[in-house]
Parts: sequence; C-alpha cells; structure tokens
Amino acid sequence: MQIGTPLSPSATKVMLLGSGELGKEVIIALQRLGVEVIAVDRYANAPGHQVAHRAHVIDMTDAAALRALVEQEKPALIIPEIEAIATDELARIEQDGLAQVIPMARATQLTMNREGIRRLAAETLGLATSKYAFADSLEECQQAVADIGMPCIVKPVMSSSGKGQSTIKCSEDIQTSWDTSQTGGRVKNARIIIEEMIDFDYEITLLTVRSKNANGDIETSFCEPIGHIQQNGDYVESWQPQGMSESALQKSQEIAAAVTDNLGGQGLFGVELFIKDDQVFFSEVSPRPHDTGMVTMVTQMQNEFELHARAVLDLPVSTALRTPGASAVIYGNMDEQGIRFDNIEKALALPQTDLRLFGKPEAFTRRRMGVALSYADDTESARTQAKLCASLVTPNKN
Ligand SMILES: Nc1ncnc2c1ncn2[C@@H]1O[C@H](COP(=O)(O)OP(=O)(O)OP(=O)(O)O)[C@@H](O)[C@H]1O
Ligand SMILES: [Mg+2]
Repeated sequence: MQIGTPLSPSATKVMLLGSGELGKEVIIALQRLGVEVIAVDRYANAPGHQVAHRAHVIDMTDAAALRALVEQEKPALIIPEIEAIATDELARIEQDGLAQVIPMARATQLTMNREGIRRLAAETLGLATSKYAFADSLEECQQAVADIGMPCIVKPVMSSSGKGQSTIKCSEDIQTSWDTSQTGGRVKNARIIIEEMIDFDYEITLLTVRSKNANGDIETSFCEPIGHIQQNGDYVESWQPQGMSESALQKSQEIAAAVTDNLGGQGLFGVELFIKDDQVFFSEVSPRPHDTGMVTMVTQMQNEFELHARAVLDLPVSTALRTPGASAVIYGNMDEQGIRFDNIEKALALPQTDLRLFGKPEAFTRRRMGVALSYADDTESARTQAKLCASLVTPNKN
C-alpha cells in the first residue's frame, strides 16, 4: 500500500459522504496517515467540514449532484457516513470504476432499508432475529400485529435514530403507531416493519473489522463487545467491555462474521445484537463506525475510526482493548445557533475523563453536540464518571 502527498498529483484522495461527528473522527484518522480528504454534507460547516482539505454542501440523495461531485473530485475511495444517500448511484459509480465504495455499494443499498438487511439476515443467512413482518397499509399493520403479538415495535423501513418508531402495547395503539410511522421516516407514506419486542437482558454493538493482513488476505477481527443504553432510539451511554458468557460471545461473533462476510469489502461494521440468556438475536448492522463505538476513543489502542481508516487503506489493524471505559452523550438542550458550552474546566478536572465537542453550528434540544469519555478499572466506575463529566458541561445561549 502506498499513500501519496496530499494536495499534489500523487495524493491518495478519499471522499466522506456525511461529515458529522463520526465522519469527523474518520477524517482526522485519515489526515494523520497523509490522506487528502474531501468532506461532503447537506449543510455548511458540518463537524467533518471543519477538519477536511475541502468541504462541499450537496443533497446526497440527489443522484446527479452526487455523480457530478465524484467526477469533479475523483476520489479513490468513497466512505459513506450516513444512510440517506443515493445508493443506487453509488452502485453505478462503483460499477463504472469511478471510485471504490466502502465497504461496497451493495452494503449501503442493503442497510439503508431495514427490509434489505432483515431479509438477508433472517431469510438468506438463517440468523436468529425478532419475529417480523412488513406492511404498506393500516390493514396490513393490523394483520401483522395479530400474527406477531404484543408488545411489538413499528419502524419505517427507511429511517434511523428512532425516527417514526413506536411501540404497540394494546390494539388501541395500532392507529397511532401507524400514523407516527407515516410522518417520522425518511420517506413519507412508506413501508414499515413490525417487530416482536425482544425482552433482552442487554444489547451490544460488536464492532467487526474486515481488513487485509500482511499477505493481502482479508481477515475478520472483533473488538470487545460494547454495551449501551438507548432512549427514544438514540444512544445515551455506552461502555466497553460488556461482560458476556463465553457462549453468547461466541454466538455473537459467529453472527457478526456471517453478516459481514456477506456484505464483503473492507472496513469496520457495527453489528447490533440483543442478548437474552444465551440467545443472541441479530438486530441491524452499520457498514461504518457506530455511534456507541465512540467509547473506543478512550478504550482501544486503535479507536473505531482509526480501524476503519486503516482497513479501507489495506493496512493492518489491532482491535486490542487498552482499558475499560465509558461514553455519555451531551445534548444541545435548546434549539439555538452558535451555542456556548460552559463549565468545561470543571468537567475536565474530573480524573480520567476526556471530552469531544463536535462543533455543530446549530443545537437542537435532543441533538448530540458532544460526548464525555472516561476510563477506569471497571466499566461501572467509568460510566459514573462519564455521566458526571457530561452533566457538568452546560450548553448556553451565546
Ligand atoms: N425488536 C426489538 N426488540 C426490543 N428492542 C428493540 C427492538 N428493535 C429496536 N429495539 C430498541 O430500539 C433501539 C433502536 O432500534 P434500531 O436500532 O432498530 O433503530 P434505529 O432507528 O436504526 O436506531 P439507530 O440508528 O440509533 O441504530 C435498539 O437499539 C433497541 O434498544
Ligand atoms: Mg440501531
């Protein structure tokens, strides 16, 4: 593997599609290896825009705009950071040999729609998942609830971060859930999935890396499992390692290997799994770094962003854990542009803590604006400390 000189004809050029807090860290990891990075997002001054060689603002769901920008910038690699992209155009870009899509265009197509990835996991690969059905109307939704039973969860197939999701506990909830699903997703009036509610003991993200070893062969490696807590479909804290039985961990790794082998290509994946006793259920997978994996910025020798950067550049990786640790999310707590964060010195005076403020130009009450990180001898102490650190950071109107 060779890496050229940025901003020269020999440059190794990578384009990020989506430049939020996760993209920003991938960009920093790439920059440290001397890669020329082009950051793309749908709004100006996105976190990744602020650390890239060049920044562009386009509607990434617009196939023509996406194609034009790729033809203009001519990156060797395209790294998607979000799901809402014209993925069929990515497939054409890949097929025409314009650029390599990470991990592969097909993975971005399958995972942007819950139906694609669920059918692959459950029906093609035969992995354990919650019971599920798809519906295009209120009547089909009612039928699905009758088949699956209550409680169950309704999600638009094209949605992320809990948008348009709700729980059906009794038949009176069906109408409300249907209505919520039709207004909350990425596309209006769209197909939904109805899933059996799994009463799991805990859920994990298993970060899984497909990278080349020194012989040029693809290898699969696993990070230590990450435990996390979700509120309204958004993660609020995560920790690593999550304690697991030998058997549950082995099953989790088998499921992650099966899914990522099928998706193929190179890069890091976040495999989301539910664990109940020794049963492991596949939920979904991100073919890219995962928000709950931000904890690896404090826990691993190579964090998930560095692992992704190395894997896509054909470089060897190490998923070794350095220390137990935790992350806690810092929210905007207000709808306001250009906010200020107070009390940073108090937050960082806590021992064994660190902070990332993403630099988002506009805050929303429930928008993730930063993350507190902490390490300790055990995850419980790290969680307590990370939450305390996050709580000390005070967003304010400027
Ligand atoms: N079938 C289920 N049984 C139990 N809990 C579930 C189920 N589906 C989802 N959840 C809970 O809701 C959370 C969010 O669900 P899911 O990951 O499918 O949504 P999402 O919108 O893609 O979220 P994100 O983009 O943040 O990963 C899960 O992490 C889990 O805590
Ligand atoms: Mg999820």
